[in-house]
Amino acid sequence: MSLVAREVTIRFGGVIAVERMALEVSPGEIVGLIGPNGAGKTTFINCVSGTYRPHTGTVRWLGDELLGLSPSTLLRKGVARTFQNVASLHDLTVLDIAKLGASARKDRQSGGHLLDFFRSDSALERELLEQILEPLELADVAHKPIQTLSYGRRKAVDLARALAAYPQLLLLDEPVAGLTSHEGMAMAGVVRNVRDRLGCAVIMVEHKMDVVMSTCDRIVVMAAGSKIFEGLPAEVQADPEVRRVYLGEP
Ligand SMILES: Nc1ncnc2c1ncn2[C@@H]1O[C@H](COP(=O)(O)OP(=O)(O)OP(=O)(O)O)[C@@H](O)[C@H]1O
Ligand SMILES: [Mg+2]
Repeated sequence: MSLVAREVTIRFGGVIAVERMALEVSPGEIVGLIGPNGAGKTTFINCVSGTYRPHTGTVRWLGDELLGLSPSTLLRKGVARTFQNVASLHDLTVLDIAKLGASARKDRQSGGHLLDFFRSDSALERELLEQILEPLELADVAHKPIQTLSYGRRKAVDLARALAAYPQLLLLDEPVAGLTSHEGMAMAGVVRNVRDRLGCAVIMVEHKMDVVMSTCDRIVVMAAGSKIFEGLPAEVQADPEVRRVYLGEP
């Protein structure tokens, strides 16, 4: 396993947001992280991505401890994330945002990729357009400021930023929330293709069960800060406790 999180606990005042949480992901694997509102999914992602420092626990990536590293250091190590809520109040264009994401790659490029350092800006733009913006159906708005775009397209831009970093560990917090089902399925398809191409490990927090079931290799269910179940998509769907806690069945 490349990512091994154990015993992760974080409190806010009296609220235990995440309690002794454990999760593992291998390269090339997409793990779905599901659970009711307030279960601690975003807080757990915030711990892994360096936004929060948990009170206890370890999060090892390829053997190195991630806890205590800043989000920017983690990004340079290949840990990229998207956000549940996208704000986008600035007037950068879609292509600018993708280039910002791509700049995180520089520190990791060596050997065969060294030539990339000398590539022209237009070659980078072409690559981002073909590899990332086209599949996310953003090529036609590449030169538009993102604040002019719909919410669904801004979510896609946030994903484009993370993908442009060519991550080795990709943390997605509700990537298809607020999207139409066509947009959501297209986005899930892009995530699968990127996983196939880069062989990255992916944790996908998501409520939309059709996307979770069709995209994830394995699913971890959280409730009240802890893992309550883990299994294949079909096993999760069939588990009576998950159905009761998460799907609201009696
Ligand atoms: N910065 C914070 N300060 C205080 N409480 C927080 C903070 N962040 C999270 N919490 C609390 O931690 C708990 C878990 O919240 P979190 O946002 O991680 O849930 P979630 O599983 O992502 O829910 P949702 O599906 O609604 O996004 C909640 O009780 C929330 O109020
Ligand atoms: Mg959340």
